[in-house]
Amino acid sequence: MGSKTVRIVEVGPRDGLQNVKTVVDTPTKLELIQRLQSAGLRNIEIASFVSPKAIPQLADCRKILTAPVVRKWQQSNTTLRLPVLVPNIKGLRIALEHGVREVAVFVSTTEGFSRANINCTVAESLERAKQVATEARAAGAVVRGYVSCIFADPFDGPTPLPAVSHAVRSLLDIGCYEVSLGDTLGVGTPPDVRRLLEYLKSQDIPTDNLAGHFHDTYGQALANVWTAYECGLRTFDSSVGGLGGCPFAPGAKGNVATEDVVYLFQQAGIDTGVDLQQVADIGVWISQALAKPNDSRAGAALASKFKKPSTRTSSPKV
Ligand code: COA
Ligand code: ZN
Repeated sequence: MGSKTVRIVEVGPRDGLQNVKTVVDTPTKLELIQRLQSAGLRNIEIASFVSPKAIPQLADCRKILTAPVVRKWQQSNTTLRLPVLVPNIKGLRIALEHGVREVAVFVSTTEGFSRANINCTVAESLERAKQVATEARAAGAVVRGYVSCIFADPFDGPTPLPAVSHAVRSLLDIGCYEVSLGDTLGVGTPPDVRRLLEYLKSQDIPTDNLAGHFHDTYGQALANVWTAYECGLRTFDSSVGGLGGCPFAPGAKGNVATEDVVYLFQQAGIDTGVDLQQVADIGVWISQALAKPNDSRAGAALASKFKKPSTRTSSPKV
């Protein structure tokens, strides 16, 4: 804790594209991943090995993993980490066959979303995650965990704090090196974040093993990132252009935008290793490719060449 760096996990190619109406072709996805890597992102979730019936937008996951550039990265000793999401042993085995070295397992804190998203109970999903983590680690892969619906479930309503700590503790116990706390619906506010993180601390869950994953449905995502930072979190998931959302959480908006997170920390003197202008350019490009508005405020400001007041040479007209 207290270090002046933050680790960003870019989830645009997975969370960002799993809910879009436009079907993105494989070359565009690969260009997105390559450009994100060039912009300095060192953790990029590139695909999910889930049922193509559940998420048709990511059905080309094998093509992504067999692309020469991705193969080269997987086989080299690069510090680049390219996790893929897997819901079960079937997904894990396909991922391992494709040289994947990091997988992400996911469970809901709540029954309603668990049933809708992965067609099983929370207890069953934890059992599946355990099988996946055990087999993945035996094969030399590392495992990240996601807990969804940390504040509310679209079917069950508000999430009780103990349900979150139970899911997080279970994922750490099965060997996840980190658990990402997902506000899947994007309904949480800074006081909610503070209350949850203080509760998890009181349950002896180490802050160093947690990440924040905030969606922006109610415009609170960036404030939630900063609050979580103040509470000790140093890893945040985000998505270029603010892409993202889950088809099983209707109405929820995208992830906090990577550009906005980079701008926030850069202005606070905290290093993310990411080039703001490059990631802003990627946000403009991918938003155009998807024919959707750019949901990053920082990205839109940089695209419009808006200058911060401190860099203006003359007083602005009001
Ligand atoms: N990869 C590819 N196909 C898979 C798969 C995987 N990891 N797991 C299951 N399938 C296929 C099965 O082969 C079967 O295909 P068939 O109908 O052609 O025989 C079909 O999916 C159903 O399999 P089943 O084991 O009965 O699963 P299910 O219908 O209970 O669905 C999940 C469970 C987890 C596979 C499915 O709900 C899913 O993929 N959810 C992902 C949701 C997601 O990614 N959400 C966004 C992240 S929060
Ligand atoms: Zn998400």
